[in-house]
Amino acid sequence: MNVVKRQIDLKRMFTCTTFADRVRFLIELAVTAPSTHNSQPWRFVITQESCRLWFEPKKQLKEADPSSRDLFISLGCVLENFVVAAQYYGMYKEVRLHMKENFVAEVFLYDRAAAHQEEYRSLCESILKRYNARGLFERTNIHEATLKRIEDIAQKYTEQGVRLQVVQNSTDIKNVAELTAKGIRIARSKPLFRKEFAQWFRTNLSKKQDGIPGYAVGLPLLPSFIAPFLMRYCSLAKVLVRKNTESILTAPAVCVIESDTDSPETWLQVGRLAERVMLECYAHDLATSIYVAAIEMDNMSQELAQTLELRGRPQFLFTCGVPLTNHRKFTPRLSVDLVLK
Ligand SMILES: Cc1cc2nc3c(=O)[nH]c(=O)nc-3n(C[C@H](O)[C@H](O)[C@H](O)COP(=O)(O)O)c2cc1C
Repeated sequence: MNVVKRQIDLKRMFTCTTFADRVRFLIELAVTAPSTHNSQPWRFVITQESCRLWFEPKKQLKEADPSSRDLFISLGCVLENFVVAAQYYGMYKEVRLHMKENFVAEVFLYDRAAAHQEEYRSLCESILKRYNARGLFERTNIHEATLKRIEDIAQKYTEQGVRLQVVQNSTDIKNVAELTAKGIRIARSKPLFRKEFAQWFRTNLSKKQDGIPGYAVGLPLLPSFIAPFLMRYCSLAKVLVRKNTESILTAPAVCVIESDTDSPETWLQVGRLAERVMLECYAHDLATSIYVAAIEMDNMSQELAQTLELRGRPQFLFTCGVPLTNHRKFTPRLSVDLVLK
């Protein structure tokens, strides 16, 4: 994989002179996390000894995510990035969950940036490499050693009530592709879903710091200008199903995260595990693509659980593999000033 990274210099941490500046830098790294429609539903408060994570209720997506599952998964992803970055700089003490009103969690930190903690270096670099690939994958299997590493990491999260299943059987992957296609057709048949999605879709020249630019789904400049209109008023199910199906069918592995419970706290842990595994994938030159249509739409999660013979409820799904095409441009992020409460 020809690796492109976000333009953030990890050495900049050592030029920060105050605790608040160091935490701001951790936030800058953390917010590169994925979120539904790139809505970035997070806010942060820096205290004298910690950083508090809040969610922004205005960013709730009533149509795409009525239960707020994906909102908390996105928050779990940003929290995991923050923790990994704090571990890399030797600043990490502990996380305490709050889950009351909009206050999600607090990460306690040491007031220092020690030398790099080597064991976290490749993970911290993965924070700068991760993107939602969406394209086709090479027909190469994932190395046994990489799979073993991913499964060992996931094992550590089982006490939080979340489990990772890595699906490699081609029949199962085909079933995942079919259920995703069904989910996309349902979503695209709903005018309110289309309206909400179109509000988050951006042209390739947009200066907005959130949402999904056309280039992120492979659109050149001119089509990116008519896409928001088409996304709103046309089903587009045929073309979206074709693109998503092609991508899923070429993936050597599908990672599904399941749980026995179904609550905001569980979803936060799902997000943490998902981000940790995705970072590990990038550390092994694999790219990842998130597809939740087979989980979010109506009662399809039961169908997915039966098809894959899961014990629990599927919560999140992404494919991984070596991407066929090189990644060029990252999606935008809100500046740190805008995500500080
Ligand atoms: C909970 C969650 C659900 C998502 N669902 C989908 C999805 O179904 N299809 C898709 O193409 N991308 C999905 N995404 C990816 C986001 O669109 C993507 O993370 C966001 O646009 C930012 O882009 P980036 O990941 O390349 O940085 C999802 C992300 C999260 C966190």
